[in-house]
Amino acid sequence: MIEYHRDRPITLALAIDLYRASTLGERRPIDDETRFAAMLANANITITAWDRELLVGIARSISDMVWTTYLADLAVRVSHQRRGIGKQLMQHTQAAAPQAKLLLLAAPAASDYYAHVGLAHAANAWRLDPTARIT
Ligand SMILES: CC(C)(COP(=O)(O)OP(=O)(O)OC[C@H]1O[C@@H](n2cnc3c(N)ncnc32)[C@H](O)[C@@H]1OP(=O)(O)O)[C@@H](O)C(=O)NCCC(=O)NCCS
Repeated sequence: MIEYHRDRPITLALAIDLYRASTLGERRPIDDETRFAAMLANANITITAWDRELLVGIARSISDMVWTTYLADLAVRVSHQRRGIGKQLMQHTQAAAPQAKLLLLAAPAASDYYAHVGLAHAANAWRLDPTARIT
């Protein structure tokens, strides 16, 4: 049985292990511990999924709680994928701020996933990377 918790404290080591075990660690700065710790600490909706004592999934979001929730990371351990855990993590995230719309940037391998679980593709989304400048 998988248990879901909101804002349950997790150590940096547990988080790094999960990001590695889900493959998301390949696209997040898990080797820069100061930066990665700040990513965890500054999220204000963090849902975690647990198989007994094993951390198996995370949805890490930044939300104003009433208008927009940015889902920054969604990750499920490869050993536990395709069991509905990703879906449950997003349902718990939405339930934490039910008036807010959920926004995210999809990894290439996950773009079919989000359509499959009911998200709409946003053609009006824009981004500014940290190295880019407003001109
Ligand atoms: C993407 C990810 C979070 C999905 O989590 P998951 O727990 O395996 O997915 P779920 O079990 O909730 O899947 C729900 C449904 O989507 C389908 N699905 C799962 N992964 C999919 C994919 N990559 N593409 C299309 N459909 C997918 C499942 O088959 C399931 O279908 P069903 O409801 O018809 O049975 C997980 O694969 C993961 O952690 N990937 C690596 C990290 C990553 O890329 N994260 C996303 C960053 S944007």
